Amino acid sequence: MNRDVLINAVYIIAAISFIFGLKMLSSPATARKGNLVSAVGMLLAVVVTMLNKEIISYQWIGFGIIAGSVAGVFAARLVAMTRMPEMVALFNGFGGLASLLVGWAVYHYQPSVNVFTAVTIYLSVLIGGITFTGSVVAFGKLSEVITGKPVLYTGQQIVNAVLLIGAIACGVVFSIVPAANYPLFIVSVVLSLVLGVLAVIPIGGADMPVVISLLNSYSGLAACAAGFVIQNNILIVAGSLVGASGIILTNIMCKAMNRSLSNVLFSGFGAVVNSKAKTSVEGEVKPIVVEDAYYILEAARSVVIVPGYGMAVAQAQHVVRELGELLEANGCEVKYAIHPVAGRMPGHMNVLLAEANVPYDQLVEMDDINPMIETVDVCMVVGANDVVNPAAREDESSPIYGMPIINVDYARTVFVLKRSMASGFAGISNPLFYKNNTRMLFGDAKQSIQGLVSEFKNS
Ligand code: TAP
Repeated sequence: MNRDVLINAVYIIAAISFIFGLKMLSSPATARKGNLVSAVGMLLAVVVTMLNKEIISYQWIGFGIIAGSVAGVFAARLVAMTRMPEMVALFNGFGGLASLLVGWAVYHYQPSVNVFTAVTIYLSVLIGGITFTGSVVAFGKLSEVITGKPVLYTGQQIVNAVLLIGAIACGVVFSIVPAANYPLFIVSVVLSLVLGVLAVIPIGGADMPVVISLLNSYSGLAACAAGFVIQNNILIVAGSLVGASGIILTNIMCKAMNRSLSNVLFSGFGAVVNSKAKTSVEGEVKPIVVEDAYYILEAARSVVIVPGYGMAVAQAQHVVRELGELLEANGCEVKYAIHPVAGRMPGHMNVLLAEANVPYDQLVEMDDINPMIETVDVCMVVGANDVVNPAAREDESSPIYGMPIINVDYARTVFVLKRSMASGFAGISNPLFYKNNTRMLFGDAKQSIQGLVSEFKNS
């Protein structure tokens, strides 16, 4: 068989496995297999690409594979679940940088390209550069190396718009006569890197997961452009899939927060929240101790557990599952209600609960649990805050007004497990803590639940 035909035939198999893998990722039951199917597809694509006759150095490719694999294995093994969004940010950033370098390398060795190739080179460099520095800033904000607050200044959007228009103008001039415009190309590389920084600094840390998902989409587009530059079909397909899935995920997250993408990108949410955070709360906080909480749980016939970011911080997922099993053994119906933006990344709670072997059929989505929540005896809020804040439903002046929430306050009794009265990521107070049917079980979520587990075991 002709070598190119073989390569493209395997690319088709790889592309099919990417699509099936992505489809399988949509359910927790098949997600692991989906990941594996896509990874095998990628391995096939990489192996068959080695047959390409234009490859210059197998040594360097081998070196890259070994260095990348070692770094990847260490990063994946060492990173804490709570730090996963930062790792994804870096992955996206390096994807963008790779596309930038591919575009640059092709242009460097072959400056006299046609207009189409010049456009794709420029796109891979521009989008890749923005993705790289934007992702590094997102990483810095999430890991608190730099401030998570929006960095805002007068005329910011005008400066960004002027730079973007400048970058597009450079792209037009470059694409018409690429060979004569190396200095302009270098200016464009710098512009793309600066644009990435300036586009992300005005966005608050709370919105970084949305930004990361958007940058993920950009990294796909940059890879797609790089695929056109080097005429590699699988890079075009994989880049398009990443670009499309990233933008779909971004859209899902925006909807779950009842915000538009432009609001996320341009409103400086954290700064606005702090100045507007005036939700007035009435009532009295009623703390409860583990022993009393146990008596209520022991009598409950239905319990809904609502996990949030605090469960990830406390690493309480295993004891939560243990408590769920003890409740079930006690004749209680147990469900886990998942809010789409609970935690700090899409699917964060699903991943944690899956890690703790919570049965998938006990996981219920927000839209399915809300209609039945009034019949629930106890809602246990484990380290969640914003996603159960009734201000989103009741207080029109609240910055999160309109965001869909899990209506835990409609349950007969609510236990809120957290360490203090501190606010959640959105930085606003939560009237739930003052409701008549709410009891605050203060302390680290893992320790509180361990206490409840001991009570059940010793009774
Ligand atoms: P948050 O509102 O951030 O609240 C988490 C709560 O966990 C805090 O109030 C904290 O209170 C508590 N906590 C922290 N460590 C704890 C521990 N060891 N034990 C017990 N409690 C602990 O979390 P959420 O309800 O999951 O909401 C997620 C937020 O992130 C939303 O505002 C959402 O819009 C935003 N966001 C999420 C995403 C995605 S994709 N998930 C994307 C963009 C934005 P204490 O300090 O008092 O303990």
